[in-house]
Amino acid sequence: MSYIPTYDEVKLFIEAVRAISDYDFSHYSIKSFTRRIEKVMSDYNFTSINDLIKKVVKDRKFLEQVVRDITVNTTEFFRDPEIWIELKRIIFDRFYDEEQIFIWHTGCSSGQEVYSMLFLLDLIGMMDKAVVYGTDINEEMLEIAKLGQFRAKDVLDYKENFEQVFSTFKYKPKIEDFFDIDQKNQKFIVKERYRNKAKFIKHDLVKDHNFFGVDFHIIMCRNVLIYFDPQLQNKIYNFFYDSLRDNGILVLGKHESIIGELSLKFKKQNTIYFKKTENYSPW
Ligand SMILES: C[S@@+](CC[C@H](N)C(=O)[O-])C[C@H]1O[C@@H](n2cnc3c(N)ncnc32)[C@H](O)[C@@H]1O
Repeated sequence: MSYIPTYDEVKLFIEAVRAISDYDFSHYSIKSFTRRIEKVMSDYNFTSINDLIKKVVKDRKFLEQVVRDITVNTTEFFRDPEIWIELKRIIFDRFYDEEQIFIWHTGCSSGQEVYSMLFLLDLIGMMDKAVVYGTDINEEMLEIAKLGQFRAKDVLDYKENFEQVFSTFKYKPKIEDFFDIDQKNQKFIVKERYRNKAKFIKHDLVKDHNFFGVDFHIIMCRNVLIYFDPQLQNKIYNFFYDSLRDNGILVLGKHESIIGELSLKFKKQNTIYFKKTENYSPW
């Protein structure tokens, strides 16, 4: 049986981490954070929260490891394919005439979402004008993203996602159009032209601002804020609103939505939010 830390113990851990580092988990949803701490304690054989705290305070490398373990990194190529099919039409209709399009994937994990976007942009002839950022708090995930090398299984398990999106094109693209295949090591390597296009940078949504110096056409933040409490979610949704240009769109995960006053400043279609301003209405 694993040790289940109490609410106060989890808070104590969060305070200790905040005191010794830049990481601030105080507005993460306590329920899922407790589950993650429980897993960390079980994986590293800790039976007391004080021992875990002592270890992270003394050992910076261990702290970084724990931070990596705490963040949930699951992702996939063309996750929720129906959203990508909708995005294909929206991006083409809305942004085809723009000189450049700025896209930001926040909480991009190991990069599959960023590469899915680049594949899609390439297929609709818009990749050259796109500037695409992928950011995450977890540096280890960003290193995987930069390499663009994935186990064959991690690509082929999502074959249906690819197929669903590709079936909407007259010319039926194939998965192999986008990867070099390393048979010996059973790896799929994202083709160089996509790897060169993606800019992966560390960014912490809790404390960093929009340091890119642009307002974005598209911000994707899927399956990230679900782990934050409503107060922090609201703060970040406001930040996204300010970081979008007038005709910009925000894409959230299937189980995420903007509620309250801010929701009036967007038009919503499934998980896609179209920014509204006093001078601009999305349609
Ligand atoms: C479940 S993954 C989602 C990946 C991708 N967006 C998707 O939907 O497939 C959540 C990601 O959010 C990142 N994350 C958690 N807290 C963060 C923060 N404060 N700032 C930036 N990224 C964060 C995690 O490291 C993780 O890679």
